[in-house]
Amino acid sequence: MSKLRVGIIGAGGIASGVHIPNYKQQDERVEIVAIADVAYERAQEIAANHAIPHAFESYQKMFEHVELDAVSICIPNKFHVDATIAALEAGCHVLCEKPPAMNAEEAERMQHAAEESGKFLTYGFHYRHQPEVQTAKIFIANGELGDIYNARVQAIRRRGIPGWGVFTNKELQGGGPLIDIGVHMLDSALYLMGYPEPEVVLGKTHQQLGTKKGVGLLGEWDWENFTVEDMAIGMITFKNGASLTLEAAFAANVEENDKMQVSLMGNQGGADIFPLKIYQEKHDTLIDVTPVYLPEFNGHSEEIKHFVNCCINGIQPISTPEQGTVIQKIIDALYQSAATGKAINFE
Ligand SMILES: NC(=O)c1ccc[n+]([C@@H]2O[C@H](COP(=O)([O-])OP(=O)(O)OC[C@H]3O[C@@H](n4cnc5c(N)ncnc54)[C@H](O)[C@@H]3O)[C@@H](O)[C@H]2O)c1
Repeated sequence: MSKLRVGIIGAGGIASGVHIPNYKQQDERVEIVAIADVAYERAQEIAANHAIPHAFESYQKMFEHVELDAVSICIPNKFHVDATIAALEAGCHVLCEKPPAMNAEEAERMQHAAEESGKFLTYGFHYRHQPEVQTAKIFIANGELGDIYNARVQAIRRRGIPGWGVFTNKELQGGGPLIDIGVHMLDSALYLMGYPEPEVVLGKTHQQLGTKKGVGLLGEWDWENFTVEDMAIGMITFKNGASLTLEAAFAANVEENDKMQVSLMGNQGGADIFPLKIYQEKHDTLIDVTPVYLPEFNGHSEEIKHFVNCCINGIQPISTPEQGTVIQKIIDALYQSAATGKAINFE
């Protein structure tokens, strides 16, 4: 069987740190044929370092000159929508980095383009592929938590404003910690809850620490041009009766440097996911269940393996375009609620 011919759009951190090495680990069934970046020299350098035969200065040129089966989209959020639609129209399956897009309108267009193309579109929500999430999913499917009626989602850093890339630029990112790191934990929670539909969303954002010079544990950020929130708070109710609270911060005066957590509360049990621990009442006592064995895999490499499997075997990846639209609607509503001071009601 011929190899899956993959193209990479964007030659930055996530492409060179995650996508390229993980495709290369599967070189018996994957060939990285081309890479495109508007910073052409970067594309050429990464191509040379990884023995990728073609480098281009735009994805349009890449699609004109090489035949591809699948692409990874690893460019700033603002450019996801156009690159994804171009790739689908070029007949490629698409793994687009998270968040799906800048807003729900774009995510919806990407969903429709995927439906029309008949190709797969999936998103880089790699936490779903962590063993803790996959194991929790099995426990939940077997009724260990019962009905999940509440979730607590946290993606909080003490002083973790990225000192590189465009993560503090609202124009290119669509927002700050909510759309960048909060989206990972929100996606994991929604995935474990069966992706319920939102009903009411209330959000609040803060900009207290990002616009002033301060300690930067992830490098020195551009505090003079910091245009995103440094903290976002949310409360979401769902049409199935469940609720969820969320906190996401690049910087906050808290104890831990970096806390990524999803806690689920069901009527038969609860769970913290990172690390996995289950809380139950059984035989008139309260017990905690802590796995002593979890499969050893890494979310990033598992995500790429899963995408390749799905492309080769014609299976829709677990992160779907429809879910991309739902999560983006929630993020839009959180930002809109924060801007207006009013809760957003979904019909
Ligand atoms: N899954 C994760 O944990 C994770 C981690 C980091 C980044 N990301 C996501 O990956 C994406 C990229 O982030 P990054 O950290 O690699 O950024 P980066 O700034 O390191 O790299 C982005 C690259 O895209 C190039 N680029 C910009 N516009 C382009 C265009 N229109 N066509 C081609 N190339 C273009 C830039 O020149 C740059 O080389 C973002 O959406 C981000 O949210 C995901």
